[in-house]
Amino acid sequence: MGEIKITLGSPQPKQVEFLEATQRYVCFGGARSGGKSWAVRFKALLMALSYPGIKQMIIRRSYVELTENHINPLRLETVGYAVYKDKDKSLCFPNGSRIKFSYCSNDGDTLQYNGQEWDIIYLDEAQQLKEEWFNAIKATNRGVNSFPHRIYITCNPGGVGMLWIRRLFIERDFNPEENPDDYVFIQSLVTDNFALMEADPDYIKKLESLPPAQRAAWRYGDWYSYEGRFFSEFRPSIHVIPHVDILPHWRRYRAIDYGLDMCAVIWVAVDELGHEYVYKELHEPNLTISDAAKKIIEMTNGEHIDMTFAPPDLWSRTKDTGRYIAEGFASNGVPLTKCNAERVGGWLSVKEKIKVIEGVGGEETARLRIVEGCTTLIKHIQLLEFSETRPNDASTEPHIITHICDALRYYCVSRQREANPLPKPMTESETLSQIKRKAIAASSGKNRRRRF
Ligand SMILES: Nc1ncnc2c1ncn2[C@@H]1O[C@H](COP(=O)(O)OP(=O)(O)O)[C@@H](O)[C@H]1O
Ligand SMILES: [Mg+2]
Repeated sequence: MGEIKITLGSPQPKQVEFLEATQRYVCFGGARSGGKSWAVRFKALLMALSYPGIKQMIIRRSYVELTENHINPLRLETVGYAVYKDKDKSLCFPNGSRIKFSYCSNDGDTLQYNGQEWDIIYLDEAQQLKEEWFNAIKATNRGVNSFPHRIYITCNPGGVGMLWIRRLFIERDFNPEENPDDYVFIQSLVTDNFALMEADPDYIKKLESLPPAQRAAWRYGDWYSYEGRFFSEFRPSIHVIPHVDILPHWRRYRAIDYGLDMCAVIWVAVDELGHEYVYKELHEPNLTISDAAKKIIEMTNGEHIDMTFAPPDLWSRTKDTGRYIAEGFASNGVPLTKCNAERVGGWLSVKEKIKVIEGVGGEETARLRIVEGCTTLIKHIQLLEFSETRPNDASTEPHIITHICDALRYYCVSRQREANPLPKPMTESETLSQIKRKAIAASSGKNRRRRF
């Protein structure tokens, strides 16, 4: 039998780092055109040839992308050697190795992975995949064999998956069950892709000429400034303050977005000039109505709250008790005030309140600001993206970031009153004339009484 040669090409330094990484979760790229898909194909081939019988799966959001970026190029690269079976979208190697191509674009698509076992999984452009999908896919990364078990992730900033990728690989903010040593991020920018820079020197100019937020994300791999940010006016340096001294006569409000999946509440104080301060937040899943009410009361800590705004859906009946959710809150000590939940108008009210304005000293400020302890609101308001289908509305994905932003919207769209001005302390002469006025009134009163 004649020898068949597969020419793999030569990886570039950042791609070499990716190819050599042996952590359980390897994240590569973080910008446009850094050679991510190329590296995925190369690694998949390398593993297929090195470990006879290994089972690998390459996942992308859509079948079209999968075909263009992976199926067609890999078929070409292995022509005469591996056989592509269209029926089960697999590239089969003579040594028993297999690369399966899969796409995942809906919640239901993850059902196909139930009970499956894959030694190596590649998630190309993983920012397009939801965290729940990642978790479902992760559960299939196993096998009773001596092959390595790893997940390779490539991504750009942005997308519904940005939050989980950023947490694990950029912020490295791990949950107790996650081992930090399992995670590594290798950044590759377009400037690390020498092959592309040489073949198409003008390409980088296209990235350079993008609008600022998009350029920062795609050209420079900035995870905090990305395309589609809904509240582009929000700037931590302006809107986040270390703390606020709330005076007793200020008004205080709460706004709530309640569901069993998440109870999100904000507390807001308003001074006599109409400055608003979000000073406390609650963001907790799985709270029953009575537990949520109890928690809210505990956190309110005896403060007088003028009103608690809530969306009209809390006035629909629950299936089990037939009572309104709002009724449940009221009977547990948290009376609610119905607000308008119309989305586009509501978001405009939020934008009006966080609009950057000039302060008394000429500094940039905003009517509504958030105390830095409200970490969830500060984080989620910056992650909200534009809806792809409804103009001027925010995206409802990823769902987890919508709750506290909705609570802020319910607050902003409702009518609040500013605090009554405090009586001004009187000057000495004002005090004296007040005493005189009282004395005259008293004596004329006496006279009147005497006359009758
Ligand atoms: N090591 C390499 N050798 C030759 N060409 C490469 C190499 N790495 C990437 N390229 C080419 O650069 C271009 C962009 O790479 P790609 O992997 O598609 O980037 P990304 O997936 O990060 O957007 C493609 O045309 C690809 O073939
Ligand atoms: Mg790619």
